[in-house]
Formats: sequence, structure tokens, C-alpha cells
Amino acid sequence: MAIWNLGSINADMVYAMPHLPAAGETLAALRLDRFLGGKGANMSVAATRAGSKVHHIGAVGPDGAWAVARLQAYGAGTGHIAQVETPTGHAIIAVEPGGENQIILFPGANRVLDRDRLDQALTQADAGDILVMQNETSLQAEAAQLGRQLGLRVCYAAAPFDAEAVQAVLPYLDFLILNEVEAQQLQQATGDTPGEIGVKDVIVTLGAKGARHIDGETGAVLEIPALPVAAVDTTGAGDTFTGYVLSALDRGLPMAEAMTQASRAAALMVTRRGTADVIPDLQEVQTARF
Ligand code: RIB
Repeated sequence: MAIWNLGSINADMVYAMPHLPAAGETLAALRLDRFLGGKGANMSVAATRAGSKVHHIGAVGPDGAWAVARLQAYGAGTGHIAQVETPTGHAIIAVEPGGENQIILFPGANRVLDRDRLDQALTQADAGDILVMQNETSLQAEAAQLGRQLGLRVCYAAAPFDAEAVQAVLPYLDFLILNEVEAQQLQQATGDTPGEIGVKDVIVTLGAKGARHIDGETGAVLEIPALPVAAVDTTGAGDTFTGYVLSALDRGLPMAEAMTQASRAAALMVTRRGTADVIPDLQEVQTARF
């Protein structure tokens, strides 16, 4: 099977900061590193490193050939990435010593995707393949609807969170991943708990407390504890979790094993500075000691 990822592609400028800047504050960075990023690209790299065949669907600007080349070097399919006139998306990321971050996002090319190209890509998918989206591109609802029609397993990582964006794709979803605060916000918007929103599989990530799976059909709840690690940079850890969990399901693992593998990958990720370029591979995830 394969994973089709309608996903953002960004240049990440990551600034190590003594603390996160306050409003009106001018603050010198301790260092600057550049990475391939974007929630979409991070998920594609994570799922590829976990062993899945991934087709990335997205767009870069005239300045984005390096990002496509890098995704390709990591093993992701890049034949459905368009080059458009709008500049490639980028993110300015401040990270404080405890690993927390603040992100300024320039969406750029990620928001000017072309409907025909999306259709051309998804009609090449096989029924049962996974389609994943996040909230950093255009055409999310269109992709979700088409994915459902084509018999794909439609997944949505609700980040960056926007209740309206989630509600637009909700009727077509088989799988939803969001964090605890977002789950509460979605409940406020819809009146439904994660188990009541009509999605077969819901994962609520709980940060240092781990992750919870809710079976939307049976109501069964599965809790996977987090691993004890000293975080230096939490950026991209959620994307790594999502890429790994979807890859594990794509490779036929049961939910508990998929979430355990994804938790190990995310735990390793927070011990590293950076985004797509530092996502661990499956061997590192399986052999890591915590
Ligand atoms: O989740 C982390 C990602 O968010 C970064 O790679 C950045 O590009 C933004 O999309």
C-alpha cells in the first residue's frame, strides 16, 4: 500500500534563543540552523524513514528545487509536487532551551495548489491507500472528499489547529489526530467529544503524558504512555508521530504497536534540534534505549 500526503513544504529557519521573545522585545539568537520542514514534508520524511512508500502532493516556488531534491533523496515520491510562481513556504522558528517553540509561518506556494493536479495525483492511488493532510495547504476538503470517493483511508492531522478547517474535512475522515487542547476546542465547536464526532480512529496526543486512541465505533480507549526524555527541541515531534503511526498502520501493524513505534520516534525527535532532516529511521527507533 502507499501513503499520499497532500502536504506543506517549507524552509525552516530555526533560531536557538535564550527564551521565547515577548511582544516588543528584541532578542539575539544563539545560533541559526536551516532545515527542510513543513508539517507535510516532515510527515512524508517520517513515513518514508519508517518504511512506507510515500507520494508527496504539494507545491514549491521557483526557489524550491532544493526542497524537492531533498524529499526525493529521503525516498519520497515527488512527481506530484508543482513548481509555481509564488515563493516556497518558510517558517521562522524560535526554540528555547527547554525545547518549546514559537513559529511564524509564511504559507507561500503551499496555499496555491491546483485542483487538476490534485485530481491527477489521487486518481493514481489504489483503494485502501492512506491519504493524509494537515492544515497548511489549500484544497484540504476537496482532497478529503475525493479520497473518500476513491476508497482511500482519509486521515487529517489538525495542525495548525482551526476548528473550521477540521469541520470542513470531518465528514470524509477515517482518522483524526489532534492534541488535548485542540480536542477541547473541537468539542466546543461541534458539541461532540472525540469519540462522538463520527470518525473511526481518533488519536489525541497528550504531550509528556503520551497519546490516547479512541475507537469511534466501539468507544474503546487505548492509552500509550510517553517515554522519559530530556527535550531540546519539540519542533516536528508531532509530525514525526503522525508519519510513523500512519506508516505502521500502512505496513499492517495493529494500533497499539503503531502508536508505540510512533511514540518512540517522537521521543527520539525531541532530543534532536531540527525538523525533517533529523527524523530518525526505523532502525534507530527500534533500537533506541530510553
Ligand atoms: O510542525 C513543525 C513544522 O511546522 C515546521 O517544520 C514548520 O515548517 C511548520 O510547518
